[in-house]
Amino acid sequence: MASEKKKSSYISGKESRRITRFNRKITRKLEKQRADYGKNPAGYTTQMKNPGNVVEFDNVCTYFFSDVGVVRAVDGVSYEIPVGKTVGVVGESGCGKSVTSLSLMQLLPRPAGQTVGGEIRFNLGDGSAYNIVNTPNDVMEHIRGNRISMIFQEPMTALNPVFRIGQQVDEVTILHHPEMSKEAVKARTLEMLELVGIANKEGVYDMYPHELSGGMRQRICIAIALACSPSLIIADEPTTALDVTIQAQILDLLQNLKNKLNSSIMLITHDLGVVAGMADYVVVMYAGRVVEKGTTQDIFHHPAHPYTIGLMRSKPVVGKKVDELYNIPGSVPNPVEMPNYCYFRDRCEMQCGHCSGQYPPEIRISDTHIVSCYRFMDEGQVLGYPKSVDVEAL
Ligand SMILES: Nc1ncnc2c1ncn2[C@@H]1O[C@H](COP(=O)(O)OP(=O)(O)OP(=O)(O)O)[C@@H](O)[C@H]1O
Ligand code: SF4
Ligand SMILES: [Mg+2]
Repeated sequence: MASEKKKSSYISGKESRRITRFNRKITRKLEKQRADYGKNPAGYTTQMKNPGNVVEFDNVCTYFFSDVGVVRAVDGVSYEIPVGKTVGVVGESGCGKSVTSLSLMQLLPRPAGQTVGGEIRFNLGDGSAYNIVNTPNDVMEHIRGNRISMIFQEPMTALNPVFRIGQQVDEVTILHHPEMSKEAVKARTLEMLELVGIANKEGVYDMYPHELSGGMRQRICIAIALACSPSLIIADEPTTALDVTIQAQILDLLQNLKNKLNSSIMLITHDLGVVAGMADYVVVMYAGRVVEKGTTQDIFHHPAHPYTIGLMRSKPVVGKKVDELYNIPGSVPNPVEMPNYCYFRDRCEMQCGHCSGQYPPEIRISDTHIVSCYRFMDEGQVLGYPKSVDVEAL
C-alpha cells in the first residue's frame, strides 16, 4: 500500500527539473502569444454565436503548469449564459467552477495558470464580442468591475479592512467614470447603499468593514459589484459565509437587483437549494468538465447523469425521513493524470457497454437538456466531444 502510494506521487529530481523546464518554456510561449493577439483588436474581437447570450464558453481549457505536472482544472468546458438569466454552476469541490469564472475575468494566477484552448466570448451589446482569452489587460480593466463584476464568498476578505466603506464603493465608480465629480460619486455610492437595503447609509459610508455584520458586509460587496450596472454578475458562493435567514435576504436582493438592471448572474454554489430557488439554467461540472446542463426544471426533475442523480439523492428533503443521506462512493480522479475514459466511471453504478470506450460525447436529450453519458447514446443526438489540448504540441 505504502509503496503503491509512493509510486503514484513520487517525482524524481530529474523529473522535477524536466517539469520546471517544460513549464517555463510553455508559459513563456503562451504569454508571448497572448501579447501578440492583444496588439491588434482583430486578434481578440469576435462574434457571438447567439446574440441572446452575454457569455459563451466554447471548449475552454484552463490548465495550471504546476511543479507536479499539468493540472487540467477546466478541460473543454462549453456553456452559455443568456442575457437577463441566472445560470447556476454546481459540482463538488475542485471540479473547476471557480477556475472557469476566473478565466472569464482573466484573474488566473499567471503565468502558472493559462487558458490554453477554446474561446470565451463576451457580448459587448453592439453586435460584436471579445474573445476574453486573447483580450489584453488594458482592455480587461474596462470590463472587470464595469461590465462583469464578481461577488466573493467571504465578504470580510473581499473588503479592505483599512478603508472606509464609502471609499471602497466610491473607488469603483471613480475608476470607471473618472469624469464624474466627487459629489456625484458620493451621491451614487449612497444610492447604491440604499438600493442594497442599508438603512443608515450616511453612517455606514464612514464606517470600516469590521463595524458591520456579515450580512451587511455582503450587501456592501453587492453594492460594489453593481455600482457600474454590469451586464454579468459572477457570484461565487455568495451566501456560504452567512446564516440561513440572511442568506435568503441576500439572494432575494441579488435577484431583484439583477431584474432591475437586466443583468445576468453566474451563480456558483454547492447549495442545490439556492440553485433551485434562483437559477433559470443549471450547469453540472465534474472533474473539470460539464457533465450535464439544462433548465432548472430539467436538472431537478429529470436528472440524467449518474453524478447529478447522486447529487440529488444526497440532498436532504424536508418531510422525508432517512436513516442516512446518500453519498457518492469513491473520489474524483487525480487532476494531473485524468483517465482516457469517462471520468465518473470508477464511481458509477449505472455503467453500460459503451462506458469502457473514450470519454462520452455531449448528447442532446431534449431541446434544452444536454448530458455527457453513454446511457443516452442511442436515444439522443450526439453533439460532439469536449476538446482537450495536447500541451506537448503547444
Ligand atoms: N493556483 C493553482 N495551482 C494549481 N492548481 C490549481 C490552482 N487553483 C486551482 N487549482 C486546481 O484547479 C481545480 C479546480 O479548482 P476550483 O477552484 O475551480 O474548484 P471549485 O470547483 O471552485 O471548488 P470549490 O467548490 O471548493 O470552490 C482544482 O483541482 C485545483 O486543485
Ligand atoms: S458514461 Fe457510463 S460510466 Fe460514465 S457516467 Fe455514464 S453510465 Fe456512468
Ligand atoms: Mg470555488
